[in-house]
Amino acid sequence: IHAWRRKRRSIAFQRKPLLLRRMSQACRDRLVRTPTVIVMVGLPARGKTYISKKLARYLHWIGIKTKVFNVGEYRRDAVKVYEGKDFFDPDNAEAVAVRNICAQQALEDMCSFLSDEGEVAIFDATNTTCERRRLIHDYCTQTFCFRVFFVESICDSQEIIEANIKEVKLKSPDYKQMPATAAVDDFLSRIALYEKCYEPIDDKVKEKNYSFIKLFNCGERFLVHKIGGHIQSRVVYFLMNIHVLPRTIYITRHGESELNMQQRIGGDPPLSVRGRVYADALAQYVAKGNQNFLFLIKSVNRDYILENIPDLIVWTSQMQRTIQTAAKINAPKEQWKALNEINAGICEGLTYLEIAERFPEEFASRDQSKYFYRYPGGESYQDLVARLEPVIMELERAENVLVVCHQAVARCILAYFLDKNADDLPYTKVPLHTLIKLTPLAYGCKLEYVPLHVDAANTHRDKPQNCQLNRTLEHAIGEFMATADEQHNNEGIQNEVFYCGTTYSPEIRNDNQQFCDLQEHDSNENAVLSDIDSSIRN
Ligand code: ADP
Ligand code: F6P
Ligand code: PEP
Repeated sequence: IHAWRRKRRSIAFQRKPLLLRRMSQACRDRLVRTPTVIVMVGLPARGKTYISKKLARYLHWIGIKTKVFNVGEYRRDAVKVYEGKDFFDPDNAEAVAVRNICAQQALEDMCSFLSDEGEVAIFDATNTTCERRRLIHDYCTQTFCFRVFFVESICDSQEIIEANIKEVKLKSPDYKQMPATAAVDDFLSRIALYEKCYEPIDDKVKEKNYSFIKLFNCGERFLVHKIGGHIQSRVVYFLMNIHVLPRTIYITRHGESELNMQQRIGGDPPLSVRGRVYADALAQYVAKGNQNFLFLIKSVNRDYILENIPDLIVWTSQMQRTIQTAAKINAPKEQWKALNEINAGICEGLTYLEIAERFPEEFASRDQSKYFYRYPGGESYQDLVARLEPVIMELERAENVLVVCHQAVARCILAYFLDKNADDLPYTKVPLHTLIKLTPLAYGCKLEYVPLHVDAANTHRDKPQNCQLNRTLEHAIGEFMATADEQHNNEGIQNEVFYCGTTYSPEIRNDNQQFCDLQEHDSNENAVLSDIDSSIRN
């Protein structure tokens, strides 16, 4: 452990924020951009890692540089082989020392990150004693002048804890070599060992000066205490909106519009004939098995399974192409102005070729930095993300929803769920006449593309090789023009399934376990789960 620590220490880069240290506490408290440390607190299997990852994804999406520091991963890196629950016995002095060293290392790395480029760091560990929390708080506030905010998850529902163990803990590298039933027993004993010394945050006396939120039973109740600043209030608002109920989010663009057929952007056109066929196919896909309704639907090529979605809600933008697309769906509908397509300002109604000819400088600037580029008199993708924040918050609160929107809007929504960065977001492929299904999983989500096999125009233009101002028209638009005519259908798009997010951090684990591991696991899941059920009952 000492060799490990020396190696890590030499990697760690420490630069203390001098400017912050010269200021008085009162001044620092009033600064909006003082870095914030979010410290998770709670017994194992209380959703701390789930909350940390989800919060980091949200903060990243709204443009805040955020990173999670998971002490369990430091411990796995230092100790390599997990030999069982005794490691977590608070009376095991040697193990306690190792755990403290791992926590200290994570703390130092975290403070280096915040001193350098980071804005928010999430310290994901159990932090179950007052003493551990005091150490973290004092180190972050006194040595580094950061803000500290504790998030404590308390859960006394045996049902939730059992479900959490089944959903994530068995996939932990700690239990790679252990049969599932033994792993569940070990994990339950591990929780019992933590319970011996767990001290919830003391809001009355010892810890009453800290800023914190306590979440009870997955958000059934909250206690919010001494919120300090803008980041903390956004975090609290987010945590009060999320839930863990199983659900599916469906995202589709509107059916092909008359302007899509002419390769023109923006405007408020009606659907083309093929767009109306897609509207029918979509209604049929989500028809909830309502046979009376099906006679309305024209015959389409059906090689996909019809969904039967309970209590589906449909959201559209306020543009006629999304409203017409959703018209035949037999479910409650709501229109959102926030879901309207990106406003292309002076370029509304033009083709990419016309923009390249009339406004070559604008066209090149957009290619150079598509996320940040704002159309004169219009919007940027960055503006769109800000406009969509209430939609994301409402999506977090919702259960089964179908969002009928537009190319740029769908890219921003997908980026939130798939944790895409600003460079990739505006180039995400969202073909017309394809339904996208997102199913949230413990630490990420499952993504499925379901093409409904109705021909449509291609509206996707890749980033060109040459983004310079002095490029030729051919360089600016040639590639797109070459493919635009060829791809007048989406027949090439297959039903595809992806898993996004990682179960355990690839930075520390060598084998970079991706969600595809879950697929393997799923195949014998029923057998494993019935073993576990009996183990938990015993
Ligand atoms: P921990 O990090 O506390 O050991 P995990 O984050 O690994 O626990 O547990 C993940 C599971 O926790 C997921 O199945 C998720 O549904 C569940 N979960 C999410 N939020 C909460 C919460 N507030 N309380 C209890 N369980 C939660
Ligand atoms: O072409 C369809 C469309 O929805 C336009 O209305 C919009 O301007 C465009 O896509 C957004 O895509 P991009 O940002 O790639 O130009
Ligand atoms: C761990 O080692 O998995 C862990 C969460 O550490 P701690 O309880 O020391 O925070």
